[in-house]
Amino acid sequence: MIHNQIIIAKTPESAGRCAAQHFRALMQTKPYCVLGLATGSTPIPLYRELIAMNQRGEIDFSTVRTVNLDEYKGLSPEHEQSYRYFMNDNLFNHVNINKANTFVPNGLAADVGAFCLEYEKKIEELGGIDIQLLGIGHDGHIGFNEPDSFFPKITHETQLTEMTREANKRFFDGDIGKVPTAAITMGIGTVMAARKVILIATGKDKAEIVKKSFFGPVDPQVPASILQLHKNCVVILDEEAAGAL
Ligand code: PGA
Repeated sequence: MIHNQIIIAKTPESAGRCAAQHFRALMQTKPYCVLGLATGSTPIPLYRELIAMNQRGEIDFSTVRTVNLDEYKGLSPEHEQSYRYFMNDNLFNHVNINKANTFVPNGLAADVGAFCLEYEKKIEELGGIDIQLLGIGHDGHIGFNEPDSFFPKITHETQLTEMTREANKRFFDGDIGKVPTAAITMGIGTVMAARKVILIATGKDKAEIVKKSFFGPVDPQVPASILQLHKNCVVILDEEAAGAL
């Protein structure tokens, strides 16, 4: 049984505005909410809209807490391609959030195993995730949960596939050799425990994987397919990403 609500917006910008309305509704009714955030090109229109809403006084970040999906292993928070840097640059520096309430996995953790357990504990202490935002990789990855023979449960270290490193090399001077080979990511279980999931996919290069993920079998070789079983998952597509449905 598929529970997902699928919304088709015209453009990536209107998909971002649509997602922003879900965030605004949560933030206006639950000031101490916990937002699970994502990086990549896809959420940028959403973050622009959240910044505009904050500037118009429609949403207040002062009591909001955030947890990010993932981080490259080996990159410091100051590295321009780190996901901490991305979040500061694309959202946190432009809204009234207290950065002490924003959590991104530590790519430099000396004991990664212990760090992953702490990250899970942190999410639990915050009261769990109210909305987890996701993009989707061309191989169906969510966070950095790559295709596998099982669905990883909790935050863990993972090796990046060639396809993912190839897709992300555009941020590293086009040089795949500069793209980290490993990352720390929330697990699929962490994502599935969120009270609501919003997955955004835009662009025609995502059309096939969107179809496979939401209209194919639930299969760990297509990690996003597990979202079919989430009770409160909204999939927001632009017309191009919806093109194969
Ligand atoms: P993108 O990445 O938004 O840059 O396409 C999505 C992802 O890999 O999850």
